[in-house]
Amino acid sequence: MSDSVTRTTLRTVLALVLVGLVAPAGAAAQTQRLDDGLARTPPMGFNTWNKFGCNVSEDLIKGVADAMVSTGMRDAGYQYVVIDDCWQVARDSATGRIVPDAQRFPNGMRALADYIHAKGLKFGLYTDAGRRTCEGRPGSYRSYEIDMRTYAEWGVDYTKVDWCYADSLDARTQYTQVRDALRAAGRPIVFSICEWGRNRPWEWAAGVGHLWRTTGDIADRWQSMINIADASSRHARIAGPGGWNDPDMLEVGNGGMTVDEYRTHFSLWAIMAAPLIAGNDIRTMSDTTRDILTNREVIAVDQDSLGAQGWMVAQPQPDLQVWMKPLRDGSRAVALVNRTEAPAEIGVDWSVIGLRAGAATVRDLWAHRDLGRLTGRYAATVPSHGVVMVRIAGRPAR
Ligand code: GLA
Repeated sequence: MSDSVTRTTLRTVLALVLVGLVAPAGAAAQTQRLDDGLARTPPMGFNTWNKFGCNVSEDLIKGVADAMVSTGMRDAGYQYVVIDDCWQVARDSATGRIVPDAQRFPNGMRALADYIHAKGLKFGLYTDAGRRTCEGRPGSYRSYEIDMRTYAEWGVDYTKVDWCYADSLDARTQYTQVRDALRAAGRPIVFSICEWGRNRPWEWAAGVGHLWRTTGDIADRWQSMINIADASSRHARIAGPGGWNDPDMLEVGNGGMTVDEYRTHFSLWAIMAAPLIAGNDIRTMSDTTRDILTNREVIAVDQDSLGAQGWMVAQPQPDLQVWMKPLRDGSRAVALVNRTEAPAEIGVDWSVIGLRAGAATVRDLWAHRDLGRLTGRYAATVPSHGVVMVRIAGRPAR
């Protein structure tokens, strides 16, 4: 490359950073993401763990699948119904096959997969790359090939692979072996890596799995959710079609946060292009919970085909934040997040989100209302621990 080309390239990158179109650099980005057609947008679905823990069964899963349809979750984009830990009880010593709990899953996994598929949904199953699962059930270590083959036979479409009982094992090596076992099994299966960000997955997991946890487990509390959002946001640059940072599953509807806090939780996950895996009881959720989880305008931000992970672009005052996600059509999704204990006004200048100073069209994604054409800036009063989320379409800065 000639000097002038190099200079021009550098100038362009600098300009993009300045106008907020490139996420701030974290670790050196390894952006060779998987290109197998899966998880081109962040996976959406349901997982048993946050609400049900080990209390999983065929009845629960069927009920959830039914409710995914009747509540409109499926039509809003939620697809994968994932059984987390505790469905497995043993490994058959003769065949080497993993054995599901016959009391809790009397008809076996293939029948359950068929039920889920008949509803237009997809089926997910958990395991562990180590010797045991976190709840002490048999892990897949030394059995990756037979397990992934078994999952493929059962009709599994998504697997979450945990990292308990993995002392002395190397995460990158083991997860790469799981990936290869999945390839050998020959069925398209989304691969969710769950080593809690302990082994710097942002440096290697793109190219191995379709999503990778960046943090420890979420708890159904404001501070836990906020800490996780902050931690995951540091790795924005590596996310994109085929590979996503996973700040853990949603707690929306589980009761430990206020409605405002859950809206903030959901908005931040959407701005961060996070997988949207509901973790509440879909069968009995309130209308308020359903309205949060099925807000199509917020989901559209999460699922935008550009696949950029948004980040915090400004903090006009401590704990009053502006988060931004560039979208395919050139508009910007913006979340004004009030992390303080009192209502406060938060404003966003067009210059901060890479738009020219003139007029831009603003739409409120929670109120579902057009706010008209505004010049230079938008500001709103945001409740304590709450969010105002808008989509802003204007003329991009050069
Ligand atoms: C770990 C994972 C959780 C869940 C449990 C199950 O803690 O991070 O998401 O899968 O194990 O035991």
